[in-house]
Amino acid sequence: MDEDTPEEAAAAEAAARPDGGTERADEPAEDVALDPWGSASVGDYADLFAEFGIEAFDDVADDVPDPHYLMRRGVIFGHREYDAVAEAMANDEPFAALSGFMPTGDPHIGHKLVFDEIIWHQEQGGDAFGLIADLEAHSARGMSWDEIDEHARSYLLSLLALGFDPEDGELYRQSDNRAVQDLAFELGSKANFSEFEAIYGFDGETNVSHMQSVVTQTADILYPQLVDEPKPTVIPVGPDQDPHVRLTRDLATRVRYFKVTEAFASFELDDAERRLVRAAYDALAADADDPETDVRCEDAAAWLAEYEPPEPDADVDDPASDPASDLVDAKPTALDKLRAGGKEPLRPRVRFFDRNATDEAFEALIEAVDGEKRVFEGHVDAFDLTREEAESLAREVEIAHDGFGFRQPSSIYHRFMTGLTGGKMSSSIPASHISLLDDPEDGYDKVKAATTGGRDTAEEQRELGGEADECPVYELYAYLLAGDDDGLAKEVYSECVNGERLCGGCKEQAAELMREFLEDHQEKRAEAEAVLDDLDIDLDSDRRGTGGEH
Ligand code: TRP
Ligand code: SF4
Repeated sequence: MDEDTPEEAAAAEAAARPDGGTERADEPAEDVALDPWGSASVGDYADLFAEFGIEAFDDVADDVPDPHYLMRRGVIFGHREYDAVAEAMANDEPFAALSGFMPTGDPHIGHKLVFDEIIWHQEQGGDAFGLIADLEAHSARGMSWDEIDEHARSYLLSLLALGFDPEDGELYRQSDNRAVQDLAFELGSKANFSEFEAIYGFDGETNVSHMQSVVTQTADILYPQLVDEPKPTVIPVGPDQDPHVRLTRDLATRVRYFKVTEAFASFELDDAERRLVRAAYDALAADADDPETDVRCEDAAAWLAEYEPPEPDADVDDPASDPASDLVDAKPTALDKLRAGGKEPLRPRVRFFDRNATDEAFEALIEAVDGEKRVFEGHVDAFDLTREEAESLAREVEIAHDGFGFRQPSSIYHRFMTGLTGGKMSSSIPASHISLLDDPEDGYDKVKAATTGGRDTAEEQRELGGEADECPVYELYAYLLAGDDDGLAKEVYSECVNGERLCGGCKEQAAELMREFLEDHQEKRAEAEAVLDDLDIDLDSDRRGTGGEH
């Protein structure tokens, strides 16, 4: 590493987080809402962690073998279970990436983030999917089929121009994909209206096709696992799409044939009770000659009666989410169950519940369990399998008997770009965003006219430095213009905050890079026309329907 001055080091550190780091607000702001069809803006990204259980990307970043620049710069800020994908990537195991686009207008630089994320996962060896959400655009946005066809074509051209390899990945439109629609139908049988009300705020006025487009999206998200085998799959999206991801993770589980849990004795335990019983078993087994037979329910009850679960951590905002308080609540019920168990040995085991299996599949599972087992009505206990072995066995049997065997999909979330005019980037304000179809000269002009994080005078700027963290032009560098060149992104940042860079020159450089990018991208789009025409995607859908809302 080369020697940085402390200022440079601080600037470089801050450059890794375009927002200068997100302070955790004490109270989650009240306006946190994730609405897939609302306006896409988020006040404080840190609130999404506490409020919705999205995890900080930092926690997995180190597990990604060769992270993309959007990951390195904190643009991708959150995830759900991305560890599974990172692990597959590191071990050369199968994984997939999929995202979708509503063809409601021209693709712009915000969509480019997602195009790049799909393409990067493809380059890392993943199966890649890009889809046109035409059913959603028609039902939720009232677009006519003609408008949809035109925009769909444009999205696909940009995706190809940026490097999507269609030989090795799949592009489709929802309306054309029979497998997706069949899957949507199956998944829809596990979702109901009350749930849609709670998740999306749907009500009696919501049109039925809009609801159908939601189950279609859950099918999109699981489609990579349907065409091939179940595998870790990442859905790169903005955080507004998280409700769809959460619903799909639930549905993926609800359609599974078997539920596998760790168990003790013959009774059922919830998760918190099971942790207490596990603690009792481990403590007693350490002193037993033969733990399998000697550790009995009544012994565990006696141990647990004396056991004090740790006090809930006073620093945790929400006591209900603190695992320690779950344990306190679970103690009396766990004790009751253990006492009722009397002399029955606790004997750890894995339990397979029959959730949705056909009779043949359940029989086949019983048959397939190796070693000692005990069969009950609706479940089977296995004594010689680990939890992991049991999970893969359950999946194997399910797939062999016409089930899906889905894994829960993962997701990554990127920050929304700030509009060039300040405020949010909006397709209805042309000056606020740059379309991938913008004339390169217009792109140049828009950057030159952009709001900055600069000071009122050049003198002040030299003295105080600019506010790169508040600057849409800096964002352009970090999100797009610097590309893979971290050196450039850091240079702009540190020169800015140290007062060595003035906005006029900075914007000129950015504007030229934007012009070059658009020129190059549009050339590649033109070349992609032939590639697109060779693909089997119907972009002249000839569909009848309503004319759309104007
Ligand atoms: N709802 C997404 C949007 O508004 C589009 C979409 C449809 C999608 N299916 C998807 C996104 C599957 C990710 C994964 O843009
Ligand atoms: Fe933004 Fe560049 Fe001005 Fe800094 S110098 S505030 S990065 S335009």
